[in-house]
Amino acid sequence: MSEPKLIVLDNAEALHVRAAEEIAHIAGEAICTDGEFTFCLTGGNTPKPTYELLASRFDHSIDWSEVQFFWGDERCVPPDSEGSNFGMAHQALLSRLDLRPDQVHRIQGEAPPEEAARSYEAELRRCFNLAPEALPAFNLILLGLGDNVHVASLFPHHPALHIADRLVVAVEVEAPQPRRVSLTIPVINNAARVMFIVSGENKAAAVKDALRGPRDPDRFPAQLVAPAHGEVVWLLDRAAARLLG
Ligand code: 6PG
Repeated sequence: MSEPKLIVLDNAEALHVRAAEEIAHIAGEAICTDGEFTFCLTGGNTPKPTYELLASRFDHSIDWSEVQFFWGDERCVPPDSEGSNFGMAHQALLSRLDLRPDQVHRIQGEAPPEEAARSYEAELRRCFNLAPEALPAFNLILLGLGDNVHVASLFPHHPALHIADRLVVAVEVEAPQPRRVSLTIPVINNAARVMFIVSGENKAAAVKDALRGPRDPDRFPAQLVAPAHGEVVWLLDRAAARLLG
């Protein structure tokens, strides 16, 4: 795996513009090469301005008809509820695009967690036409960073960090909407590109632990993100990068 690429932007606004630019570039490359762009969204609050930019200023920069939308994790809540990662992306991006229903592969937050995990795993196997032991290879997985250094819904010291025989797991975590469904580390590490989008002073310590802290992946799950054949890009604003020196 190549060293993570760090890009530090002056402020949050510049961060979101750069994130949208990077996504548009990666999408164009994937559509030219593969005929489609398999785009795995992150949840949380951070990416919302990026999604809004993709739907507005960058609307004509991507051939949206060739984009397949997925999620890295989901809270086990209905899709129209406050905490839904699908709901946030739908409001900020998907609802503003003219998409076919078959382009959107959401995790069914309204279903029982294990059932939602199994059906999402089956959907991944179908969409990527996977052989039994194969992993999906997303063109791009977006990730946020929890202030406890979690990624997706893979939290510190959680057994799910070490699951290698599933693509998708149901977890219970100490966070709002504690019951969640998440991609596993092997799937994240099979992506062609992983892009972190991290903003704000409140994430500076987590960024330092992830990138400069002692090697301790159980304590700092973001340290597990190391695609064997892919690229990791950290898009940070200056506030989030403050402790990197
Ligand atoms: C989620 C996300 C999660 C998120 C981090 C950061 O479901 O919450 O997938 O991994 O990216 O918790 O969240 P914020 O962007 O809201 O700080």
